[in-house]
Amino acid sequence: MDVKIEDLKILFSEEQIQNKIKELGQELNKFYNGEEVYAICVLKGAVFFAIDLVKHLNMPLKMEFIRLSSYGTGFSTSGKVNAVDISLPDLNGKNVLIIEDIIDTGLTAKFLMDFMHCNFKTKSTKFCSLLDKKVSRRTDIEPDYYGFEIDDKFVVGYGLDYEGYYRNLRFIGYVGEE
Ligand code: IMP
Ligand code: MG
Repeated sequence: MDVKIEDLKILFSEEQIQNKIKELGQELNKFYNGEEVYAICVLKGAVFFAIDLVKHLNMPLKMEFIRLSSYGTGFSTSGKVNAVDISLPDLNGKNVLIIEDIIDTGLTAKFLMDFMHCNFKTKSTKFCSLLDKKVSRRTDIEPDYYGFEIDDKFVVGYGLDYEGYYRNLRFIGYVGEE
């Protein structure tokens, strides 16, 4: 099946997304209370979210970018996480905030949390995902912060892709079944 832009239905508008990000920013500001944070953006999907989110954060902050891939082709996950580029500075003693677009099976999140625990003794490691597809979970991972819970829909836009396309949409859409 192919995804056509005219078949997309809006799940979250640009305004809904931006309002939610502002709320998340306020929550994070409260939690970190001015302490320095290393914000780690998981490329490619989280790039729009991470960039909009950090604009609301008011503590000293550094950004890092890592690149993972787990999605196979089309709508289904390969079930295997590939670390395409996971080079990071020394994060021992640091507050680490991992920023993701979506948690689906949770395999990517689990991989990242395990990677952090194996490699660093951070001061804190928190996971923030814009979307949480709780119904698809195959691990016991829960995000510390998330924007919206969604049911088992395949979504695109605002960083999320279908075969590489539609990341640039300002809204999040899904393929509607009538
Ligand atoms: P997980 O490892 O199964 O939790 O999947 C995480 C990754 O799969 C996300 O970072 C996304 O890149 C991708 N993904 C999961 N669900 C969707 C979706 O509905 N649309 C687009 N990408 C998705
Ligand atoms: Mg992703």
